[in-house]
Amino acid sequence: MRTPIIAGNWKLNKTVSEAVDLTSELAKLVDNITDVELVVAPVFTALSNVYNVINTSNIQLAAQDLYWEDSGAFTGEVSAPMLKDVGCDYVIIGHSERRQYFGETNETVNQKVKAALSHDLKPIICVGELLKEREAGKTEAVIDDHVKGGIVDLTESEMESCVIAYEPVWAIGTGKTATPDQAQEVHSFIRDILTNCYSENLSSQIRIQYGGSVKPENAAELMSQQDVDGALVGGASLDAQSFAEIVIQSR
Ligand code: PGA
Repeated sequence: MRTPIIAGNWKLNKTVSEAVDLTSELAKLVDNITDVELVVAPVFTALSNVYNVINTSNIQLAAQDLYWEDSGAFTGEVSAPMLKDVGCDYVIIGHSERRQYFGETNETVNQKVKAALSHDLKPIICVGELLKEREAGKTEAVIDDHVKGGIVDLTESEMESCVIAYEPVWAIGTGKTATPDQAQEVHSFIRDILTNCYSENLSSQIRIQYGGSVKPENAAELMSQQDVDGALVGGASLDAQSFAEIVIQSR
């Protein structure tokens, strides 16, 4: 039985005080939830303050990215031990916005995944096809490439610490959600990849989140699919009520 995991990806939003307010409101709304893993991913500057609000709660902390070196002359970067130091449990890696705007590739994703794991941070590895790739019938090829490229050289026990987020790029921030059937089809395909790369046992344990315009109105149907184990929520996670409602709908 896989425990669903719902993560709020706040992207480039919220000052420290706004992030603390949002977290405090959310913590009250979800404090009785024990059967869903809850995660929020604020900007780097708010991580520490948000941690102070949630450190005794059922909400865990994620960063939105990291760099693979621990320290050194890498201006502007933040490393895995630094994220651990401010209370992160998870880190989002390879989000499509990073792939599109910041030159992220499967190789950099894989380096980041390994760095996270070596410091006991659990990676949320994002994969997903562009609209033109879906329309050209290339969805499975792209997903295969993103998944396999992100997990190169991971042992089975390292893989057990990872979450995969399937986010069709055409559904992110557009209001267009994949239908539950479309999501299920790709999630089941991802599980097959993991079975082939590792084992049936491993693949049955990995949580695969869906992301892309998840809202309170569509969460329950998406989450009821057999291979959908939670959500990576962007826009709707910036409002405590709607994020809490998504959590409730997904149980
Ligand atoms: P969205 O973003 O929910 O605003 O579509 C999802 C994501 O990018 O993780």
